[in-house]
Amino acid sequence: MSKPLVVVTGKNGQLGWEILQLPESLKEQFEFLFTGREELDLAKPETIPAFFEKNKPAYFINCAAYTAVDKAEQENELAYKTNAESVGLIAKHCASIDAVLITISTDYVFDGNGKEPYQINTKTNPINYYGYSKWVGEQLALANCPKSIVIRTSWVYSTHGNNFVKTMLRLMNERPELKVVSDQIGSPTYAADLAETILKMMQSIQNGHAHYGIYQYSNTGVISWYDFATAIAKLGSKNCNVLPIPSSAYPTPAKRPGYSVMDCSGLVNDYGIVLKDWHSSLAKCIGLLNS
Ligand SMILES: NC(=O)c1ccc[n+]([C@@H]2O[C@H](COP(=O)([O-])OP(=O)(O)OC[C@H]3O[C@@H](n4cnc5c(N)ncnc54)[C@H](OP(=O)(O)O)[C@@H]3O)[C@@H](O)[C@H]2O)c1
Repeated sequence: MSKPLVVVTGKNGQLGWEILQLPESLKEQFEFLFTGREELDLAKPETIPAFFEKNKPAYFINCAAYTAVDKAEQENELAYKTNAESVGLIAKHCASIDAVLITISTDYVFDGNGKEPYQINTKTNPINYYGYSKWVGEQLALANCPKSIVIRTSWVYSTHGNNFVKTMLRLMNERPELKVVSDQIGSPTYAADLAETILKMMQSIQNGHAHYGIYQYSNTGVISWYDFATAIAKLGSKNCNVLPIPSSAYPTPAKRPGYSVMDCSGLVNDYGIVLKDWHSSLAKCIGLLNS
Protein backbone atom coordinates (compact mmCIF):
# COMPACT_ATOMS: atom_id res chain seq x y z
CA MET A 1 0.00 0.00 0.00
CA SER A 2 1.29 3.47 -0.82
CA LYS A 3 2.18 5.77 2.03
CA PRO A 4 0.15 8.96 2.69
CA LEU A 5 1.76 11.94 0.97
CA VAL A 6 2.76 14.85 3.21
CA VAL A 7 3.50 18.22 1.61
CA VAL A 8 5.62 20.51 3.78
CA THR A 9 6.04 24.15 2.68
CA GLY A 10 8.86 26.40 3.88
CA LYS A 11 11.59 23.75 3.54
CA ASN A 12 14.27 26.43 3.88
CA GLY A 13 12.73 28.07 6.94
CA GLN A 14 13.36 27.08 10.55
CA LEU A 15 10.37 24.82 11.09
CA GLY A 16 10.23 23.26 7.62
CA TRP A 17 13.94 22.49 7.86
CA GLU A 18 13.52 20.90 11.29
CA ILE A 19 10.79 18.62 9.92
CA LEU A 20 13.18 17.67 7.12
CA GLN A 21 15.83 16.79 9.75
CA LEU A 22 13.58 14.55 11.87
CA PRO A 23 14.84 10.98 12.10
CA GLU A 24 13.57 8.47 9.53
CA SER A 25 12.08 6.37 12.35
CA LEU A 26 9.50 9.14 12.93
CA LYS A 27 8.81 9.70 9.25
CA GLU A 28 8.80 6.22 7.74
CA GLN A 29 5.00 5.95 7.82
CA PHE A 30 4.70 8.83 5.33
CA GLU A 31 6.03 9.98 2.00
CA PHE A 32 7.26 13.57 2.09
CA LEU A 33 7.37 16.35 -0.49
CA PHE A 34 9.24 19.39 0.83
CA THR A 35 8.65 22.62 -1.05
CA GLY A 36 10.29 26.03 -1.22
CA ARG A 37 9.32 29.10 -3.24
CA GLU A 38 10.49 27.41 -6.45
CA GLU A 39 7.92 24.61 -6.12
CA LEU A 40 5.09 26.64 -4.58
CA ASP A 41 5.18 30.43 -4.22
CA LEU A 42 2.58 31.52 -1.67
CA ALA A 43 2.89 35.10 -2.89
CA LYS A 44 1.27 33.84 -6.09
CA PRO A 45 -2.03 32.28 -4.96
CA GLU A 46 -2.99 31.81 -8.61
CA THR A 47 -0.39 29.00 -8.85
CA ILE A 48 -2.00 26.93 -6.08
CA PRO A 49 -4.62 25.10 -8.22
CA ALA A 50 -1.91 23.75 -10.56
CA PHE A 51 0.07 22.50 -7.56
CA PHE A 52 -2.94 20.52 -6.33
CA GLU A 53 -3.60 19.22 -9.85
CA LYS A 54 -0.18 17.62 -9.69
CA ASN A 55 0.00 16.64 -6.03
CA LYS A 56 -2.70 15.02 -3.89
CA PRO A 57 -1.43 15.15 -0.31
CA ALA A 58 -3.13 13.45 2.61
CA TYR A 59 -1.48 16.07 4.85
CA PHE A 60 -0.48 19.62 3.97
CA ILE A 61 1.87 21.15 6.56
CA ASN A 62 2.17 24.86 5.95
CA CYS A 63 5.39 26.13 7.53
CA ALA A 64 5.99 28.86 4.92
CA ALA A 65 5.04 32.39 5.82
CA TYR A 66 5.93 36.00 5.30
CA THR A 67 7.74 36.42 8.63
CA ALA A 68 9.42 39.84 8.27
CA VAL A 69 7.37 41.44 11.06
CA ASP A 70 8.68 45.00 10.66
CA LYS A 71 8.70 45.00 6.84
CA ALA A 72 5.11 43.74 6.84
CA GLU A 73 4.01 47.19 8.02
CA GLN A 74 4.98 48.43 4.52
CA GLU A 75 4.55 45.27 2.44
CA ASN A 76 0.90 44.71 3.36
CA GLU A 77 -0.09 43.10 0.08
CA LEU A 78 2.75 40.59 0.01
CA ALA A 79 2.16 39.62 3.65
CA TYR A 80 -1.58 39.25 3.06
CA LYS A 81 -1.22 37.12 -0.06
CA THR A 82 1.32 34.83 1.61
CA ASN A 83 -0.16 34.53 5.10
CA ALA A 84 -3.88 34.86 4.42
CA GLU A 85 -5.10 34.53 0.83
CA SER A 86 -2.90 31.54 -0.05
CA VAL A 87 -3.73 29.75 3.20
CA GLY A 88 -7.44 30.10 2.43
CA LEU A 89 -6.96 28.68 -1.04
CA ILE A 90 -4.79 25.82 0.21
CA ALA A 91 -7.54 25.06 2.75
CA LYS A 92 -10.15 24.91 -0.04
CA HIS A 93 -8.01 22.52 -2.06
CA CYS A 94 -7.29 20.37 1.00
CA ALA A 95 -11.02 20.14 1.69
CA SER A 96 -11.71 19.09 -1.90
CA ILE A 97 -9.40 16.05 -1.55
CA ASP A 98 -10.23 15.37 2.13
CA ALA A 99 -6.68 16.26 3.21
CA VAL A 100 -5.64 17.43 6.67
CA LEU A 101 -4.24 20.95 6.75
CA ILE A 102 -1.84 21.90 9.53
CA THR A 103 -0.93 25.57 9.28
CA ILE A 104 1.25 27.50 11.68
CA SER A 105 0.14 30.72 13.30
CA THR A 106 1.48 33.04 15.95
CA ASP A 107 1.10 34.55 19.42
CA TYR A 108 0.94 37.88 17.55
CA VAL A 109 -2.79 37.30 16.97
CA PHE A 110 -3.12 38.55 20.59
CA ASP A 111 -2.60 42.17 21.59
CA GLY A 112 -0.23 41.37 24.44
CA ASN A 113 -2.33 43.01 27.15
CA GLY A 114 -3.15 39.72 28.87
CA LYS A 115 -1.89 38.81 32.32
CA GLU A 116 -2.43 35.08 32.23
CA PRO A 117 -1.80 32.50 29.50
CA TYR A 118 -4.05 32.95 26.45
CA GLN A 119 -6.60 30.21 25.87
CA ILE A 120 -7.45 29.19 22.30
CA ASN A 121 -10.67 31.19 22.57
CA THR A 122 -9.21 34.29 24.24
CA LYS A 123 -10.19 37.31 22.17
CA THR A 124 -7.70 37.97 19.39
CA ASN A 125 -6.65 41.51 18.56
CA PRO A 126 -3.46 41.74 16.47
CA ILE A 127 -1.46 44.92 16.94
CA ASN A 128 0.72 44.72 13.82
CA TYR A 129 0.13 43.86 10.17
CA TYR A 130 2.00 40.55 10.32
CA GLY A 131 -0.25 39.45 13.21
CA TYR A 132 -3.32 40.61 11.30
CA SER A 133 -2.33 38.68 8.15
CA LYS A 134 -1.71 35.52 10.19
CA TRP A 135 -5.03 35.97 12.01
CA VAL A 136 -6.90 36.16 8.67
CA GLY A 137 -4.98 33.04 7.60
CA GLU A 138 -6.27 31.22 10.71
CA GLN A 139 -9.87 32.21 9.95
CA LEU A 140 -9.63 31.20 6.29
CA ALA A 141 -8.04 27.84 7.13
CA LEU A 142 -10.74 26.99 9.66
CA ALA A 143 -13.59 28.24 7.47
CA ASN A 144 -12.53 26.45 4.30
CA CYS A 145 -11.28 23.07 5.48
CA PRO A 146 -13.06 20.95 8.11
CA LYS A 147 -9.82 19.04 8.75
CA SER A 148 -7.80 22.16 9.61
CA ILE A 149 -5.41 22.39 12.50
CA VAL A 150 -4.00 25.81 13.33
CA ILE A 151 -0.96 25.71 15.62
CA ARG A 152 -0.06 29.04 17.17
CA THR A 153 3.55 29.23 18.28
CA SER A 154 5.89 31.90 19.66
CA TRP A 155 9.54 33.01 19.81
CA VAL A 156 10.75 30.31 17.40
CA TYR A 157 14.46 29.45 17.11
CA SER A 158 16.56 26.69 15.58
CA THR A 159 20.14 25.90 14.65
CA HIS A 160 19.02 26.78 11.11
CA GLY A 161 17.95 30.17 9.76
CA ASN A 162 17.72 33.57 11.37
CA ASN A 163 16.58 33.89 14.94
CA PHE A 164 17.18 35.59 18.28
CA VAL A 165 19.46 32.85 19.66
CA LYS A 166 21.86 32.95 16.72
CA THR A 167 21.79 36.76 16.55
CA MET A 168 22.58 37.02 20.27
CA LEU A 169 25.46 34.52 20.04
CA ARG A 170 26.94 36.48 17.13
CA LEU A 171 26.56 39.88 18.82
CA MET A 172 27.96 38.50 22.07
CA ASN A 173 31.16 37.63 20.20
CA GLU A 174 31.38 41.15 18.80
CA ARG A 175 30.37 43.32 21.78
CA PRO A 176 31.24 43.48 25.47
CA GLU A 177 27.72 44.64 26.37
CA LEU A 178 24.19 44.09 24.99
CA LYS A 179 20.93 45.77 25.93
CA VAL A 180 17.83 43.58 25.68
CA VAL A 181 14.19 44.36 26.41
CA SER A 182 12.92 43.00 29.71
CA ASP A 183 9.24 44.03 29.54
CA GLN A 184 8.14 41.63 26.79
CA ILE A 185 7.21 38.31 28.31
CA GLY A 186 6.68 35.02 26.52
CA SER A 187 7.78 31.42 25.97
CA PRO A 188 10.41 30.37 23.45
CA THR A 189 9.87 27.50 21.02
CA TYR A 190 12.68 25.29 19.76
CA ALA A 191 11.55 24.52 16.21
CA ALA A 192 12.86 20.94 16.52
CA ASP A 193 10.39 20.33 19.38
CA LEU A 194 7.49 21.71 17.35
CA ALA A 195 8.55 19.63 14.33
CA GLU A 196 8.43 16.47 16.46
CA THR A 197 5.04 17.49 17.84
CA ILE A 198 3.63 17.88 14.33
CA LEU A 199 4.87 14.40 13.37
CA LYS A 200 3.31 12.91 16.51
CA MET A 201 0.01 14.60 15.69
CA MET A 202 0.07 13.13 12.18
CA GLN A 203 0.79 9.67 13.57
CA SER A 204 -2.10 10.05 15.97
CA ILE A 205 -4.44 11.10 13.14
CA GLN A 206 -3.24 8.15 11.07
CA ASN A 207 -4.15 5.92 14.01
CA GLY A 208 -7.69 7.28 14.04
CA HIS A 209 -7.30 9.84 16.84
CA ALA A 210 -7.97 13.10 15.05
CA HIS A 211 -8.82 16.45 16.62
CA TYR A 212 -9.09 19.61 14.55
CA GLY A 213 -9.19 23.33 15.34
CA ILE A 214 -6.81 25.68 17.11
CA TYR A 215 -3.86 24.49 19.19
CA GLN A 216 -1.00 26.39 20.80
CA TYR A 217 2.59 25.24 21.19
CA SER A 218 5.68 26.63 22.89
CA ASN A 219 8.23 25.26 25.29
CA THR A 220 7.23 25.59 28.95
CA GLY A 221 8.38 28.47 31.14
CA VAL A 222 7.70 32.19 31.12
CA ILE A 223 10.59 34.58 30.52
CA SER A 224 11.51 37.97 29.08
CA TRP A 225 13.79 38.50 26.09
CA TYR A 226 16.36 39.73 28.63
CA ASP A 227 16.10 36.44 30.58
CA PHE A 228 16.43 34.57 27.29
CA ALA A 229 19.57 36.53 26.31
CA THR A 230 21.09 35.99 29.76
CA ALA A 231 20.59 32.22 29.43
CA ILE A 232 22.03 32.27 25.89
CA ALA A 233 25.16 34.05 27.17
CA LYS A 234 25.57 31.53 29.98
CA LEU A 235 24.95 28.39 27.92
CA GLY A 236 27.08 29.76 25.08
CA SER A 237 29.90 30.66 27.55
CA LYS A 238 29.96 34.25 26.27
CA ASN A 239 31.75 36.92 28.17
CA CYS A 240 29.20 39.64 27.48
CA ASN A 241 27.31 41.82 29.92
CA VAL A 242 23.55 41.65 29.21
CA LEU A 243 21.58 44.67 30.45
CA PRO A 244 17.76 44.96 30.74
CA ILE A 245 16.03 47.85 28.93
CA PRO A 246 12.35 48.81 28.48
CA SER A 247 10.71 48.37 25.03
CA SER A 248 10.45 52.18 24.85
CA ALA A 249 14.27 52.26 24.52
CA TYR A 250 14.15 49.92 21.50
CA PRO A 251 11.53 51.26 19.06
CA THR A 252 10.59 49.07 16.07
CA PRO A 253 8.32 49.82 13.05
CA ALA A 254 5.86 47.09 14.15
CA LYS A 255 4.52 47.06 17.71
CA ARG A 256 5.30 43.92 19.74
CA PRO A 257 2.91 42.35 22.25
CA GLY A 258 4.00 42.80 25.89
CA TYR A 259 2.62 39.50 27.14
CA SER A 260 2.66 36.50 24.77
CA VAL A 261 2.24 33.41 26.91
CA MET A 262 -0.15 30.79 25.52
CA ASP A 263 -1.86 27.90 27.26
CA CYS A 264 -0.67 24.79 25.40
CA SER A 265 -2.71 22.22 27.32
CA GLY A 266 -4.88 21.36 24.27
CA LEU A 267 -2.04 19.43 22.68
CA VAL A 268 -1.34 17.61 25.94
CA ASN A 269 -4.99 16.65 26.44
CA ASP A 270 -5.98 15.82 22.86
CA TYR A 271 -2.73 14.50 21.40
CA GLY A 272 -0.75 13.37 24.45
CA ILE A 273 2.12 15.73 23.60
CA VAL A 274 4.72 16.13 26.34
CA LEU A 275 5.76 19.77 26.47
CA LYS A 276 9.47 20.49 26.87
CA ASP A 277 11.06 23.00 29.18
CA TRP A 278 12.55 26.07 27.45
CA HIS A 279 15.93 25.91 29.18
CA SER A 280 16.77 22.31 28.30
CA SER A 281 15.69 22.86 24.69
CA LEU A 282 17.84 25.98 24.49
CA ALA A 283 20.79 24.02 25.91
CA LYS A 284 20.26 21.35 23.27
CA CYS A 285 20.19 23.89 20.43
CA ILE A 286 23.30 25.72 21.66
CA GLY A 287 25.04 22.35 22.12
CA LEU A 288 24.33 21.54 18.47
CA LEU A 289 25.51 24.98 17.34
CA ASN A 290 28.78 24.43 19.21
CA SER A 291 29.34 20.89 17.95
N1 LIG B 1 9.94 32.78 13.84
C1 LIG B 1 9.14 33.05 14.86
O1 LIG B 1 9.57 33.55 15.90
C2 LIG B 1 7.67 32.70 14.79
C3 LIG B 1 6.85 33.05 15.87
C4 LIG B 1 5.51 32.71 15.82
C5 LIG B 1 5.00 32.06 14.71
N2 LIG B 1 5.82 31.75 13.67
C6 LIG B 1 5.24 31.06 12.53
O2 LIG B 1 5.85 29.78 12.46
C7 LIG B 1 5.91 29.35 11.09
C8 LIG B 1 7.33 28.91 10.76
O3 LIG B 1 8.16 30.02 10.95
P1 LIG B 1 9.74 29.94 10.77
O4 LIG B 1 10.34 30.53 12.00
O5 LIG B 1 10.13 28.61 10.30
O6 LIG B 1 9.89 31.02 9.61
P2 LIG B 1 11.13 31.32 8.67
O7 LIG B 1 12.36 30.68 9.22
O8 LIG B 1 11.11 32.78 8.43
O9 LIG B 1 10.74 30.54 7.36
C9 LIG B 1 9.67 30.92 6.58
C10 LIG B 1 9.80 30.22 5.26
O10 LIG B 1 8.72 30.65 4.43
C11 LIG B 1 9.22 30.81 3.16
N3 LIG B 1 8.43 31.75 2.38
C12 LIG B 1 8.28 33.08 2.56
N4 LIG B 1 7.53 33.59 1.59
C13 LIG B 1 7.20 32.56 0.78
C14 LIG B 1 6.46 32.46 -0.39
N5 LIG B 1 5.91 33.53 -0.97
N6 LIG B 1 6.30 31.24 -0.98
C15 LIG B 1 6.88 30.14 -0.44
N7 LIG B 1 7.63 30.18 0.67
C16 LIG B 1 7.78 31.38 1.28
C17 LIG B 1 10.61 31.35 3.33
O11 LIG B 1 11.32 31.10 2.15
P3 LIG B 1 12.80 31.68 1.89
O12 LIG B 1 13.70 30.81 2.72
O13 LIG B 1 12.96 31.49 0.43
O14 LIG B 1 12.76 33.10 2.33
C18 LIG B 1 11.09 30.55 4.52
O15 LIG B 1 11.72 29.36 4.11
C19 LIG B 1 5.41 30.51 10.26
O16 LIG B 1 4.03 30.32 10.00
C20 LIG B 1 5.53 31.71 11.19
O17 LIG B 1 4.58 32.71 10.88
C21 LIG B 1 7.15 32.04 13.69
